[in-house]
Amino acid sequence: MRTWTRKEKYRTISPDDRYELQNLHERIAQSRWRSTFHVQPVTGLMNDPNGFSWFDGKWHLYYQWFPFGAVHGLKHWYHVESEDLAVWENKGLAMKPDILYDNYGCYSGSAFIEDGTMYFAYTGNNKDVFGQRHPYQVLAWIDEKGELQKLDHPLLTQPEGYTEHFRDPKLFTHDGKYYILVGAQDTQEHGRFLLYSSDQLKQGWKLEGELKVRGYDHFGFMVECPDIEKIGDDWLLLFSPQGLEAEGELYNNKYNNVYFVGRMDFENLEFVPNGPFRELDRGFDFYAAQCALQNQYENKAVLAGWFGAADYTYPATDEEEWSGLQTLARELTIEDGKLIQKPAKALKQLRGRKLFEARDGSIVSDSMHGLMPQTAIMRLDDPDSESIELNLFARSRKNGFAITYDKFRRRLVVERGDLENQCNEEFGSTRTVTLEDGLKSLEIYVDRSSVEVFVNDGEYVLSSRIFPTAGENLIRMGGKNIDLVIYEAVPAVEDSFVL
Ligand code: FRU
Repeated sequence: MRTWTRKEKYRTISPDDRYELQNLHERIAQSRWRSTFHVQPVTGLMNDPNGFSWFDGKWHLYYQWFPFGAVHGLKHWYHVESEDLAVWENKGLAMKPDILYDNYGCYSGSAFIEDGTMYFAYTGNNKDVFGQRHPYQVLAWIDEKGELQKLDHPLLTQPEGYTEHFRDPKLFTHDGKYYILVGAQDTQEHGRFLLYSSDQLKQGWKLEGELKVRGYDHFGFMVECPDIEKIGDDWLLLFSPQGLEAEGELYNNKYNNVYFVGRMDFENLEFVPNGPFRELDRGFDFYAAQCALQNQYENKAVLAGWFGAADYTYPATDEEEWSGLQTLARELTIEDGKLIQKPAKALKQLRGRKLFEARDGSIVSDSMHGLMPQTAIMRLDDPDSESIELNLFARSRKNGFAITYDKFRRRLVVERGDLENQCNEEFGSTRTVTLEDGLKSLEIYVDRSSVEVFVNDGEYVLSSRIFPTAGENLIRMGGKNIDLVIYEAVPAVEDSFVL
């Protein structure tokens, strides 16, 4: 794989780069692993979703972006837009490092809307001449001309007692006050949440203190991308802690994205959870998720996530000089104190031609004839079978990406070890979920290099990247009496070059 010099990695975009990037885009657009209904990098590498919001009649999503290749180089923000959370349009570069406070990258942050203006609170990753990092939480906004402005002073600087790992501000208001929640690492290398408040947006910020979670001291060695959201009467605290130990079925990825449901006590700087934290996603690739700032839904949040994780590599597309995807947008509700995650409603419209249908185990129609479609939406209901097995992108004597369910043990397993192209296999190639109440339904979204499995209409989600080769082109299905429908997926995200 390509090695990057420092200079190449810390290069920012300039108008002269258009042709180079257009060429890069044209080359990667040929890839068999480009998506058709997921947001993907126009060129180079994407990671976290940022500034996710509903504003001016549209959903806006920004992603962490290194334009020039598949490496975590100098981070910019790229903008995509949607009317319905299913069809997304590339809008172009939104933010680049151009001030002292973000000279080594515009890192992750959140959107905030006031008086019809869209603001962003983000982390300016600064490095000094000795290579020492100085993180700043910076405010930016889009002015009347549609141009991005940045405040000339940072809102927050690294506080005493914490290391340079201080980032990913979530700006919000509560009871007439402004708040910023930041991920931090203390000098003992423990992951912490810090809460700041102010009476004014652009100044007067003061550290309230650490936001404690009742029953917990700290979370791993660093907390990234904290987010807090009110859903009905409940609060949701989302974050990406680094350094959790794997425990059986849980926390098997290098880094995991988790949440608490509970109550937020602003006065005592305490989050009171209604139970232990849980993983947002039980697949192989999911991290740094963020809820949208929105007034579209009451009692519902909307979530975007990075279909990847820090320190993972994806050799198949890295070699093609691009990396990363966003997961499908999810609608979040809390039912009986439990988080339910459903694919955004508009994604239903992506069900195209029916390719296969089985009712009570008998095949009603089949135009696939055992050949795996590159994109598909599959729905399985009320299974009454002792075992179920779906092999996607299989070939003879190889199971491809396998989804199996064992009714006796109530165990759902996804497995990608049988595929030719492997990635991050040191973190295992199976993921298992024991379903307390058994399996009632599966909704599966396949988009060339990704599979998202929604279990029991939102009880669990498993998101996994895969890189099937041309020869891995079969689908096999096993199970008695199953009801299964497979649709072709309608393309919803044009792979266009917009800078
Ligand atoms: C999470 C993260 C954030 C940071 C950003 C940099 O993946 O490490 O903490 O702001 O990515 O791209």
